[in-house]
Amino acid sequence: MNTRKLIVANWKSNKTVRETQEWMSTFAQQELRPSHQYVICPPYPALFAVQPPEKQWSVGVQDLSPYNAGAYTGEVAPYNLQDFAVKYAILGHSERRKYLGETSQLVAKKADVAVASGITPIICVDVNQFEEQADQLSEAVKKQTIIAYEPVHAISTFGGHEDPLEVTLQHITHLRDIFGDVKVLYGGSVNLQNSLTYLEQDSIDGVLVGSASLDAIEFARL
Ligand code: PGA
Repeated sequence: MNTRKLIVANWKSNKTVRETQEWMSTFAQQELRPSHQYVICPPYPALFAVQPPEKQWSVGVQDLSPYNAGAYTGEVAPYNLQDFAVKYAILGHSERRKYLGETSQLVAKKADVAVASGITPIICVDVNQFEEQADQLSEAVKKQTIIAYEPVHAISTFGGHEDPLEVTLQHITHLRDIFGDVKVLYGGSVNLQNSLTYLEQDSIDGVLVGSASLDAIEFARL
């Protein structure tokens, strides 16, 4: 079993193809921590620039269609991704829930499609979404899903107010009571100063990183 901590870069709508290529060439020169497995989630147009993945890092996307191939204008389905080695899909990020009205029900449909195509969903939830999101997921999907606990107030662009560690750990215990024995990532202003505090917790399997992932050197040092 792979027990390495998962360090996921969520670039959001940042970086052009050229900036992605520059980031990748800097990242390739960094010495990566052997205890970590990295995941890079660029915007879709830059997906080809983070190929092929290597042993210590994999590729993810930041959203996925709730349908597979077909007449769904503007959506990107797993079928469209088969020429890329996409291993993970971030789903239901709080920005999508807030700005695009994405619901836990829609996120669950996307997770079904992802799992059916061999892509591991990384579903983002804040405390008030634990139950409604878990209720929407089938047991089979839950078993293959990673949950990212992201308190909205801790996300850098929504204020960046971190909770005390004990509070975060209590919420993660509560999360596992609801979702079962899932892998849990923590996200919200994770950076060079605080990443090891989270990563040394047994109950935290990795981190989901926004702002601090935009710099390849900083990301590789988390
Ligand atoms: P942040 O973003 O690290 O910039 O707070 C995390 C996220 O939104 O996933």
